[in-house]
Amino acid sequence: MTIDEAINLNKPVIIKAYSVSESTEHYIKLVLTKILQKHNCEVLLIPLYTAVKELVVNAVKANQKFIYFEGKKSYESVFFNSEKALQLFRLEMTRSDAKYLDTLARKHNLHAMTTITVIDKKLCIDVENPTPMNETERDAVKKKLNIARQCEDITDYFIQAQEDDYKEGAGLGLVLITMMLKGMGLNQSNFIIDSDHEKTIASIIVPLTEATLQAYQKRIIDSTTNVA
Ligand SMILES: Nc1ncnc2c1ncn2[C@@H]1O[C@H](COP(=O)(O)OP(=O)(O)OP(=O)(O)O)[C@@H](O)[C@H]1O
Ligand SMILES: [Mg+2]
Repeated sequence: MTIDEAINLNKPVIIKAYSVSESTEHYIKLVLTKILQKHNCEVLLIPLYTAVKELVVNAVKANQKFIYFEGKKSYESVFFNSEKALQLFRLEMTRSDAKYLDTLARKHNLHAMTTITVIDKKLCIDVENPTPMNETERDAVKKKLNIARQCEDITDYFIQAQEDDYKEGAGLGLVLITMMLKGMGLNQSNFIIDSDHEKTIASIIVPLTEATLQAYQKRIIDSTTNVA
């Protein structure tokens, strides 16, 4: 079945990624563009594409972190220090090892699986990876999203989150998605990130309706007026 046929029949489209390659980006953008066009909501493409890409990056990073840590554990179990390993992981991710981790992810079949579908005029996007968050990560994410939900913008978030001293939770991707959805008039039930002992799933639900478009357009006008 082609992408067009799947979209016309409202069937889910699944995109598998072992790394965030150009082809992954291309297919995410293509599927979102076609669905949004079908529902006259093209204006939402850039924010939604940015959000989905961020979720896929997170999922791929989590898979690669898993592979990296497993390797460290088996070779250096006696000396294994997770804080040190995390620092090394960050360093290596910024170098050519990222390509090597992509190969390993394929070997272990650790992928990020993005499922995009429309159910009752609601765009439903799930990004799943077969690697769980640990309890500390889950708590940090929960805490961050609770703060983000109450904030109007990123400056507001920095002020509110000053006391959040959990270093690994210092990223902003999930916070920005929360704020972006808020700008579309949506709330916490439209963005869920959940993890059990074997997987993590992040879900975004966006009603493809006039109300969402109006809320988003109003937000743009308000921001432009503030800047002017
Ligand atoms: N799909 C996932 N699987 C496992 N852990 C995840 C997943 N998504 C997020 N996390 C955890 O949540 C944390 C926060 O994610 P977030 O996107 O907000 O920040 P980040 O990715 O660390 O940094 P940034 O997005 O600013 O580059 C991650 O560091 C990771 O520990
Ligand atoms: Mg991120």
